[in-house]
This record gives sequence, C-alpha cells and structure tokens, in this order.
Amino acid sequence: MSLTDKVALVTGASRGIGQAILLGLAEMGATVVGTATSDKGAQLIKNALAAKSYAGGAVIMDVRDDNSVATALAAVEEGYGAPVIVVNNAGITADNLLLRMKMEEWQSVLDANLTSLYRVTKPCLRAMLKAQWGRIINISSVGGVSGNPGQANYCASKAGVIGFSKSLAQEVASRNITVNVVAPGFIGTDMTSALTEEQQAQLKKTIPMQRIGTPEEIAAVVCFLASSGASYITGETIQVNGGMYMQ
Ligand SMILES: NC(=O)c1ccc[n+]([C@@H]2O[C@H](COP(=O)([O-])OP(=O)(O)OC[C@H]3O[C@@H](n4cnc5c(N)ncnc54)[C@H](OP(=O)(O)O)[C@@H]3O)[C@@H](O)[C@H]2O)c1
Repeated sequence: MSLTDKVALVTGASRGIGQAILLGLAEMGATVVGTATSDKGAQLIKNALAAKSYAGGAVIMDVRDDNSVATALAAVEEGYGAPVIVVNNAGITADNLLLRMKMEEWQSVLDANLTSLYRVTKPCLRAMLKAQWGRIINISSVGGVSGNPGQANYCASKAGVIGFSKSLAQEVASRNITVNVVAPGFIGTDMTSALTEEQQAQLKKTIPMQRIGTPEEIAAVVCFLASSGASYITGETIQVNGGMYMQ
C-alpha cells in the first residue's frame, strides 16, 4: 500500500477534507503538495506537514484562474517532480434558490468545482501517461446525485464531476491510470460550520448513522483509491455519507 516515490497533488489542502487527504497520502509515503489560495493557507499546509515530518510542501493556486494553475503546476514539477496522484478537492458553495441565484453565483461555483478539473487534470496527464501509472481522485458530493434545494449550482457542478470522471476513466484506463470519485455526505469542516445547531440537529435526523462525518473518514477512502488495493477500480463513485443517500 506504500506510495513511496510518488508525488501527490491535493487542491484545497489548507483545511478541512483536503488537509486530511494530504496528511493521509503523506502517511502512506507519498511526497505531497497541497494548494491554497493565500500565503496564510500555504503556511497552514507547511505547518501540518512539518508537525509530522512529512515530505512535501505547498503552492498557491486559484483553481478558477488558468495562469495561477499553470504557474503552480510548474512550481510543483520543479520543486517536487510531476504529480502522478492528483486529488481535485478544492470547492466552494454559493447557495441560493434558483429564482434568486445570480449569474455570478452560478458561474463561480461551476468554475471552482468543475472547470477546475479541466484546468488541473489535463496538464497532469502527460506525466502519468509517461509513467504508465496514475491516480486521479475527484471530490464530488452527495448533492451531485441526490440534488439539494438551494444548491442547483453546487449540485450541477458535483454531478458534472462524476460525468467528467467516468469519461476520462475510459480514455486512460489502458494506460493504468484510474479516475474515481469520492462523494462525501455532511462532513465537519468550515463548509458546514455555517449551519446553526438547529440545522445540524435536523440534518442528523436524515443520516442513518446520526452524526456528521469527519474529514479523516473521507481521506481514508481517497487513500484506498490511491493505493495498489484499488488498482482495478476506475470510473467509480464511492458515497461516504453515513447512509444518508444509498445508490
Ligand atoms: N464539508 C462537507 O460536508 C462536504 C460535503 C460534500 C462535498 N464536499 C466537498 O469536499 C471538498 C472540500 O470541502 P471542505 O468542506 O473541506 O471545504 P472547506 O473547509 O471550505 O475548504 C475548501 C478548500 O478549498 C480551497 N479553495 C476554495 N476556493 C478555491 C479556489 N478558487 N482555488 C483553489 N482552492 C480553493 C480552500 O482554500 P483556502 O483556504 O485558500 O481558501 C480550502 O483549502 C469540496 O470540493 C466540497 O465541495 C464537502
């Protein structure tokens, strides 16, 4: 299960699920590079890695910006080598009922959560093709399959992540590159901390396991998909949601 000698890139690793994934892959021996949108976020990544003496670092990347992605990927390659494990985790919400949703709320979410996969994954493919080995793991959401009122933009982007992954999986399977999706349910991070206690209590009633998940419970599945144990799984979406939605 070791990922020694492999370079892994995790977008949005300054906190939450991304940081747990970064640390999980580092624990498996990968050299990990996490991305953040600010110096402060990059420092959080460096601190988290240093605390465990893990190999790797941080780069600044805005997944909505072509130039930022290109500059960051060049820095990763120069500093650590080309990544053969890519985890597209960075994501945002801008919730609103469709009747009130502004175009900017639609565009920004689609851009950050879906078009980012095109920007980040495409340039990383070349090294995976050369290595004849690669793992692409994309973070969707339970909302991408169930839908959620007030999140037409978010759910559309997360459903798109699944379609993207199934297509790319078929394009690169013969080269020993797998493309899979992890779809979290409600996980305790900054993204969900905006919910009131009452909203959280209501939410737990919809979850058979009656609790919110942890970032580590998502990271564990991502780490499995990156490991040799998942070598024959591709184009799959794994729901990690305490039973709140069963496909
Ligand atoms: N939490 C949940 O319940 C839940 C459920 C289903 C799916 N998910 C998905 O899981 C992923 C991680 O969620 P989370 O809860 O850990 O979120 P979070 O705590 O809000 O963290 C989001 C991460 O994404 C980064 N990010 C935001 N905008 C970015 C941009 N334009 N370019 C690059 N990075 C950007 C942030 O970087 P900065 O710190 O620099 O801003 C941060 O590292 C997301 O794709 C989310 O949709 C989460």
